Amino acid sequence: MKKTKHKADKIIIIGDGAVGSTFAYTLLRENVSASIGIIDLNQKKVAADVEDLNHTLPFTKCSGERVYIANYSDVRDADLVVITANAPQAKFGEDKDRLGLLQQNVRMMTSITTEIMANGFAGVILVVSNPVDALTQVVQRVSALPRRQVIGTGTLLDTARLHAVIADKLNVNSNDIKGFILGEHGNSGFINWSHLTIGSIPILTWLEKYTTYDCHHQFFETLEDYVRKIGVDIFADKGNTSYGIASCLVMITETILSENNRILPISAYLTGEYGVEDVYIGAPAILNRQGIDQIIEIDLTEAELAAYQQSAEVLKANIVELEE
Ligand code: 2OP
Repeated sequence: MKKTKHKADKIIIIGDGAVGSTFAYTLLRENVSASIGIIDLNQKKVAADVEDLNHTLPFTKCSGERVYIANYSDVRDADLVVITANAPQAKFGEDKDRLGLLQQNVRMMTSITTEIMANGFAGVILVVSNPVDALTQVVQRVSALPRRQVIGTGTLLDTARLHAVIADKLNVNSNDIKGFILGEHGNSGFINWSHLTIGSIPILTWLEKYTTYDCHHQFFETLEDYVRKIGVDIFADKGNTSYGIASCLVMITETILSENNRILPISAYLTGEYGVEDVYIGAPAILNRQGIDQIIEIDLTEAELAAYQQSAEVLKANIVELEE
């Protein structure tokens, strides 16, 4: 594919909390070539972060002005807007369910999106705030941008956590593990075990051949349980999760801006794929500068398809509640 030369890429981050600032830092450390504007109501915090972040420039391969305090007029010609903001009062309930944050964050998300669109934005919006699938749907609806241009971080973080824990338990390199978590970024997300491989070997075969695990079912359940809970557990102990999600954001950003054709499990609007329609949910997709280039359909088992459809129902129920 021939790539045309374009102006320097412009990324705007909305929300300068732990996620927004760690994302900006990781972009710089990974030498992602783009200008980075940060918007937050707390102007003092943004100003301090911008200074601090720019002090990393002599240690990176970046050059020129890189990070600045932005306002909504800066989104006009941005390539990518990344929304990491959370309503200040947003808190997880006892059930540790991200969907409990929907009512708390929806108004803020609506007003952020309205501001973005009032400034003539025409690029890609990447939603990070939770519950990410439902809020991505809200942002798309309010923005009226084409669905391909509005995506959420989906199950990329859950997938990274799965690979990390398998690498640790089985003493393999996480780069050799392939396969996704699909569905909701939350309690109904599920592991696509039937396509999970280590060095191209199906995980079940790997366990039988190279380990002494004799109860695969239990091994699988332990991992699924870990991945479902760990994000909220980290949140409870340090008030946020930041490094893992920031790394996901850099990967999604690079995939969009450089069109490197990676397939990533992000939150996308499905229109019949996997028997799921009319909902944003974690699905594998190839991304490009217009957002989603193509949703990839994996050949799932019946049980996995049922889990997918069940996860979609959970998300739809919450969206409907929101519309009532
Ligand atoms: C995470 O999983 C809390 O959704 C956030 O890190």
